[in-house]
Amino acid sequence: MSLVVFPFKVEKPEVVVNNIHMAASHERVSEVLCVGVEEEETYAAIAAAAPHVMAETDTPVNLILQDRLGSLRPGKGDGMNTALKYFLEKTDVDRVHFYDSDITSFNQGWITTAEEFADLGYDVVRHYFPRAATDAMITWFITRVGFAVLWPYSELPWIEQPLGGELLLTRKTTENLVADPLVMAQSDWGVDTIYTFRMIQGGAKMFEAYVKEGKAHKLYGRLTDLRTMLVECFAAIQSLKDEKVDGSTLHRVQPPDVVPSAISEKLGYDIEASMSLLTERWTDRQAELLELFPVPIRDGMIANRQRPRFGFMDEAAWFETYCVLLSHFEKDDEDWREIIFKLWIIRVLNYTTTAAARGYAYGMRYLRSMVERYLRQAALGK
Ligand code: DGY
Repeated sequence: MSLVVFPFKVEKPEVVVNNIHMAASHERVSEVLCVGVEEEETYAAIAAAAPHVMAETDTPVNLILQDRLGSLRPGKGDGMNTALKYFLEKTDVDRVHFYDSDITSFNQGWITTAEEFADLGYDVVRHYFPRAATDAMITWFITRVGFAVLWPYSELPWIEQPLGGELLLTRKTTENLVADPLVMAQSDWGVDTIYTFRMIQGGAKMFEAYVKEGKAHKLYGRLTDLRTMLVECFAAIQSLKDEKVDGSTLHRVQPPDVVPSAISEKLGYDIEASMSLLTERWTDRQAELLELFPVPIRDGMIANRQRPRFGFMDEAAWFETYCVLLSHFEKDDEDWREIIFKLWIIRVLNYTTTAAARGYAYGMRYLRSMVERYLRQAALGK
């Protein structure tokens, strides 16, 4: 039997309650746990609905607030780690599932799929979804690139959605994570990176299950919405850069299917609004820090003080940029945060206008082959 966890912040209560109900009625689920950040309206709505769901499904639905466990910004990591501890300390079931609470396309099939692959002996089952060619820009340009550059021989760069929040873990895998001080310290957006990394490093058998209907979630507006996530995901990779990972993990991926046009035709972010960020918030110190980068990158960046420019940030320039960031980036320095944010927007705009503009299929092919080229470059020095 399994515990299903829904971490939440401020969500539409009817969506969350519907998802809780679906999970609680699943035959493999013995308890549903909702982990909130504070006692606001969503929390109150779940508290009010829980007794009804319990009465209808005969499954306990518990609601808790996340504990302060980590040492970084209190965020998603504290929520997930609170749930892992709850799973080990308050239940005796074998598996825990996580699902984002606001997914409108969630259904019981997601739980069944994860359970069935876990029955085959996998320690971790991750769901992955078709995403628009201009969505998942942190996944592609920060996480998968970082995994390729730093651990080219490992399974890490081959993980479809290393930042995904929909996953099943066995008790043994959870015990390893909870016993790991680095994992428990990671209270911010970096938590997914650290979980993924430690699972592969620790040799967990991983299956990625494809959810063809996709994960319905809201479109980001300006890329500013993702600024904190970007900084924290990069800093998590940077904090791991001296770690070793061998290449022997078992990792299998269910093949993808036809992508619904609602996804292939979707725009992942607002291009014009994001371009306008490039000329804002410059300081002279940022210009000084850019001296650390190769001259064409420094000059291209400085030109953005006057008007948006992104033609210079191609695949090769991003590799060089990424390596400089790995050595010099400082997460708590506001000028560095702004520099990495601008560099990333510039790379995303370059990709959008040179690859994604040629259509969904081309964009996705480009992203996949880019990761592969980077890992060969990192491994073979080509
Ligand atoms: C990512 O890059 O995967 C983030 O979820 C933003 O889309």
